[in-house]
Amino acid sequence: MDLPINSTPHIHPHAFAVSARERAELLRQTPGIVWFTGLSAAGKSTIASAVDVVLHRNGKHSFLLDGDTLRTGLCRDLGFSNEHRHENIRRVSEVSRLMADAGLLVLVCSISPFAADRQLARAIAGPHRFIEVHVHVPVAVAERRDPKGLYKLARQGAIKDFTGIDSPYEEPTTPDIRINTTQCSVADAVALIARRLGRT
Ligand code: ADX
Repeated sequence: MDLPINSTPHIHPHAFAVSARERAELLRQTPGIVWFTGLSAAGKSTIASAVDVVLHRNGKHSFLLDGDTLRTGLCRDLGFSNEHRHENIRRVSEVSRLMADAGLLVLVCSISPFAADRQLARAIAGPHRFIEVHVHVPVAVAERRDPKGLYKLARQGAIKDFTGIDSPYEEPTTPDIRINTTQCSVADAVALIARRLGRT
């Protein structure tokens, strides 16, 4: 892709009069980014959405950034080549950073299949406020679930570069939290993440 990602001459970022810390204090919460990675149909959106509900009910200011939704707007020009996925993750990371600077608890659902891109996300977002959640499920189970019928289309060759079929998923080796959705209920997963957020 031909984007001038690293060439930003004559740009002078604005120094804000209200700091990120002051915004967080006003909202009475510790901002952070919970990054859900895993195969399509692993359960990322289900768990993140349940976490969002719990946070909201507890008076926390949160927001959910979901890969499918972002790809209809901010990232609508991107496909699923390795290069486009990299750009997708970069954009979503930058948006998450801004939202966390605004004081929010940001929940990101993105397959984010490549370790280097997840590392980039952590670096952009700020390592001290980044929690990586690996929502794990074997490909065979995700394929059996197939709620959107995409695995079937990928097997038929109607979709190319489909993660887990003809595009790789690099499993996180040291995620902050790993949830195996064949064994862990949504409620247990939410409790695990809420506990972790309570400690930040
Ligand atoms: S990522 O790899 O760049 O992180 P992202 O999470 O934004 O992917 O988008 C994944 C969603 O796009 C999936 O949930 C699925 O619904 C849809 N999708 C369409 N084509 C593909 C594909 N080739 N590989 C993976 N997901 C795809």
